[in-house]
Amino acid sequence: MRSYKYDILIVGAGGAGMEAALNASKDENLSVGVITKVFPTRSHTGAAQGGMNAALAYRDTTDTIESHVFDTVKGSDYLGDQDAIEFFCGGMPDLAHELEGMGVPFSRDENGDIAQRPFGGASHPRCCYAQDKTGHVILHTLFENCLKNGVTFHDEYNLLDVATDENGVQGVVAIDLRAGDIVSFQAKVVVLCTGGFGRVYWTRTTNASNMTGDGVAAAMRAGVPIKDPEMVQFHPTGLSSTGVLLSEACRGEGGYLINNQGERFMSRYAPTKMELGPRDLVARSIETEIKEGRGFGEGMKSWVLLDMRHLGAEKILDRLPQVRELAMKFEGVDMITDPVPIRPANHYSMGGIDVIDPYTCATAIPGLFAAGECSNISVHGANRLGGNSVAEVCFFGKHAGIGAREAAPTREFGGTDKLESLVESWEACFKKMRRKRSGTHIYEIRDKMAEAMWNGVGIFRDAEGIKAAMATVDECIELYKNTHIDDSSKVYNNAFMNYVELGNVLTIARAICMGALDREESRGSHSRSDFPERDDVNFMKHSLVTLADDGSYSIDWRDVKVTKYEPQERTY
Ligand code: FUM
Repeated sequence: MRSYKYDILIVGAGGAGMEAALNASKDENLSVGVITKVFPTRSHTGAAQGGMNAALAYRDTTDTIESHVFDTVKGSDYLGDQDAIEFFCGGMPDLAHELEGMGVPFSRDENGDIAQRPFGGASHPRCCYAQDKTGHVILHTLFENCLKNGVTFHDEYNLLDVATDENGVQGVVAIDLRAGDIVSFQAKVVVLCTGGFGRVYWTRTTNASNMTGDGVAAAMRAGVPIKDPEMVQFHPTGLSSTGVLLSEACRGEGGYLINNQGERFMSRYAPTKMELGPRDLVARSIETEIKEGRGFGEGMKSWVLLDMRHLGAEKILDRLPQVRELAMKFEGVDMITDPVPIRPANHYSMGGIDVIDPYTCATAIPGLFAAGECSNISVHGANRLGGNSVAEVCFFGKHAGIGAREAAPTREFGGTDKLESLVESWEACFKKMRRKRSGTHIYEIRDKMAEAMWNGVGIFRDAEGIKAAMATVDECIELYKNTHIDDSSKVYNNAFMNYVELGNVLTIARAICMGALDREESRGSHSRSDFPERDDVNFMKHSLVTLADDGSYSIDWRDVKVTKYEPQERTY
């Protein structure tokens, strides 16, 4: 058995993983390793176009940290934990400057300060950006700084399981895709930064194809609950044919949403904020226009228009060059001369691994930490604001790295028995799947699950639809037990990895259905037509879905932490 040993092992090399690695590696006595599905600068943070919120008050001198806190609490529809939100918003101005100092080439305003643009649900323009490539440049800067600090990267090593015992974490088991080996990583501390799970909605998402919740599902198998899984964000402006993201920066820079009557229909739903309402509200408004016959096209192919023409070529080319290119390549439309067909697409998972300490990102398992989209630190609650994701991955990635750095010297390397038994069972599974040719094919199961999730647990929900989706997911879980792939190779067996990923998204899909069914209210992104009101008496609570060893699921609830903002009606 090939094995590695690090004091601190980070899983994932997006913004959160690399911030964690960078901060963990600041203690030269600790060895820090990172395993990553893709080359680090190809991680999904690179798809984050629009920017990162920090109340720097450059563009609008009246902006404050307190406003950022309140916007985030209100945006979360009062499901965010207010202590975590205060910690997060309070630390963002310093973090923005830290990233600037490390070399992130932020766009500049006329004074030479970091440029800021308006974003949805924000009371002030506080979204710091680098054209429309913010995530991309942050990844490159973090990667360079990690290399400088001697962090070791294992590229194309995919997480299979987290090994734990009564003393906490033992390490992780992964597949080295290039060699086709199942390997173990022993570690005193493991930080999961594996990203979201948008591929539960395979057919319509802005997420890369590898965003399959591997860390979330592995944490669930290790006994950690998934918190608020039903809170799934749909981004208002995916390209209509593919779901590819057109950044919220399009509306931040002044783009209009137009229906088939030529109306700026957001005046009906968010008369003050218009196109810059929060994402849950704008996505529902677009879907309502389509449902009520004011969209274009038919069925899944319906759309409304994002009109940018009035901004002019110069502004579009200066601020949104990548977005323009994406619309041209994937929709065949040049936004300088024509409006672009768009429709909401799954974008972000507010739910994730239950982090119990926002200051260190620790989970309930000693030595196991989580940060970034795979985690739920409860800052986004029921709806994340645009620009708070790149902010979150960097901020909590950093604090997870510090948490890990402080925890590692207090822990011993644990046993290896669990690691060894997991390696053995994954080796047996890999062997079996390379030979097996019967059963329903993985891609058939994946499509069945995704369609059921989109129809039953999408933007609008009710008990009947959720139950139907849950029944289909249960059926898919059964089919998965006897599925097959069509690839017998040992090296680069991507089909086997797709098999593993399908198991992970199914595990999470089941939890999403469970949370969605039991949360009998509408809050943020969770919109129940059979329970249209928010119910603060019974549901100002986080759902916690736990997977037992026998494959059964249970749900529990935990109160939201309120510091000073009592719930109010949420209008924009
Ligand atoms: O629309 C965007 O540029 C995405 C930003 C975000 O999800 O925060």
